[in-house]
Amino acid sequence: MSSSSHPTVIVIGAGIIGLACALKLQAKLAEREGTRYVHVLLVAREWPGSIPGAPSTHSADYASMWAGAHVRPIPATTPQLQREAAWLKQAAAEFSRQVEAEPWCGVTRTGGVEFLEAPDRGYRSQDAGGFERESGLRGFRKLSPSELPEGVSLGFEYETFCVNSPLYCEHLLRKFLLQGGKTVQRELKSEWEAFTLRENVLFIVNASGTGFGDPKCFPTRGQTVVTNLSDIIKTVTRQNKDGSWSFLIPRFFNGGTIVGGTKEPGDWRTEPDAATRNRLLAAGLTIEPYAHDTPRSNAESPENVKVVSDVVGRRPTREGGMRLEVEERALVQHNRESTTGGVIHAYGAGGRGYEISWGVASEVVAPAGPLLEPNNLEAKL
Ligand SMILES: Cc1cc2nc3c(=O)[nH]c(=O)nc-3n(C[C@H](O)[C@H](O)[C@H](O)COP(=O)(O)OP(=O)(O)OC[C@H]3O[C@@H](n4cnc5c(N)ncnc54)[C@H](O)[C@@H]3O)c2cc1C
Ligand SMILES: *[C@@H]1O[C@H](CO)[C@@H](O)[C@H](O)[C@H]1NC(C)=O
Ligand SMILES: *[C@@H]1O[C@H](CO)[C@@H](O)[C@H](O)[C@H]1NC(C)=O
Repeated sequence: MSSSSHPTVIVIGAGIIGLACALKLQAKLAEREGTRYVHVLLVAREWPGSIPGAPSTHSADYASMWAGAHVRPIPATTPQLQREAAWLKQAAAEFSRQVEAEPWCGVTRTGGVEFLEAPDRGYRSQDAGGFERESGLRGFRKLSPSELPEGVSLGFEYETFCVNSPLYCEHLLRKFLLQGGKTVQRELKSEWEAFTLRENVLFIVNASGTGFGDPKCFPTRGQTVVTNLSDIIKTVTRQNKDGSWSFLIPRFFNGGTIVGGTKEPGDWRTEPDAATRNRLLAAGLTIEPYAHDTPRSNAESPENVKVVSDVVGRRPTREGGMRLEVEERALVQHNRESTTGGVIHAYGAGGRGYEISWGVASEVVAPAGPLLEPNNLEAKL
C-alpha cells in the first residue's frame, strides 16, 4: 500500500485540541486488532515550538502558543458550563496521570487561589464537596475574611495544574510522531480541501481553532506579560467588579511567570498595548504575595521583575461554546467521484482549551469508534 492510499484519519489543527484528539485516536487504533495500518495525519498551518522572547514566533491566531495556562474550574451554573466542567474533570484526571508518568511533559501540580470582588451565586454557594464532585480537584478551602486582600469579598484555594503551554504542545507532538503519526504543513484554503490530501480518507477531525468562517466564531483578545518572576508556586486569579482580571501563572521549566490578562471579545489588535502592560504588572504585584506557600506581607518590588516578552493571543471563541458534532456531507473527490465525507467538528474552545482538552478529545473519539470498526474499514480497502 502506498502512503497516500492508506486508510487515513485527518486531524486539522496542531493546537492543544488537535494534538489531544490525534493522540486519543492513536490510542484507540492501538487497542484494536487489525487497525494498525490506519494512518493518523495531522495537517496545520502552524506548529508548536514557541518560546516567548525567542525570534521565531507564531501568529496571534495560534492560541495554544499564548495560553497561560492554568486549570481553573468555574461553577457549572449554565448548560455550557456544565458541559465544560465534565470535560475539565476528565482533563484534570489525565494531567494527574501525566505529571506522575511523564514529569517532563510541561504540566505541574500547583496550588490555585481565587479572589472575587463580586461573586455570583454559583461562586457564593460553592463548597468543598460540590467543587470536588464537579472538577475532581482536591483541597478546596474557603478563605477566611482575614486572608483576603482589600476589596475582595470571596476567596478560596484548591489543588490544580499549570501548563507550560508551548512546551506541552511540543511534548504531545513528539509523542504523536514517535507513535507513527504523519504530518503535513499546509494552510487549507477551502473547508473540504483536507479530503484531497489522501486517497482514502476515513473521516476528518476539524480542530481548526476558529477555522474557516463560522459566523458564530470570534476572537477574544488576550494580552499578558511573560516576566522573570521565578519563585512563585501558586496560580492566583482575581476577578474585579469592573469585569477586569488579574492573574499570575507560574510557568515551570524555565518559563518565568505569566502576568495577565485581558479578555477583549472581537478586538482584532495584535500589537501589545503599553498602558495595558503597565496596568497588568501593577495589578499582578498586588496578588503576588499570595502566590507563595504562606502569604508574604510585602509585595515583590517592580525593579525585581523583568519583562521577558509581551504576549497577544486570540482565544478561539464561539457563541454557545465549542462546536462538537459529526457532520456528514456529500463531496466530490479529486477523482471526480461523488462520495460522502464525515467531519467531526471540535473547534471554538475559547479561553479553556487546555483545561477541557482531554475531555473534548474523548468525546471526539467516541463517534469515531464505529467508523474504525474493522468491518467498516474493510469496506474502505
Ligand atoms: C492570553 C491567553 C490565555 C489563555 N489562558 C488559558 C488558560 O489559562 N487555560 C486554558 O485552558 N486555556 C487558556 N487559553 C485558551 C487556549 O489557548 C485555547 O482555548 C486553545 O489554545 C485553543 O486550542 P485549539 O487547538 O482549539 O486552537 P489553536 O491553538 O488556535 O490551534 C488551531 C490550529 O489549527 C490550525 N489551522 C487553523 N486554520 C487553518 C487552516 N485554514 N489551514 C490549516 N491549519 C489551520 C492552526 O495553524 C493551528 O495549528 C488562553 C488563551 C490566551 C490567548
Ligand atoms: C472546520 O470548521 C470551520 C469553522 O471553524 C468550518 O467553517 C469548516 O467548514 C470546517 N471544515 C471542515 C473540513 O469541516
Ligand atoms: C529579574 O530581573 C530583575 C531585573 O533585571 C532582577 O533584579 C531579578 O533578580 C530577576 N529575577 C530573577 C529571578 O532572575
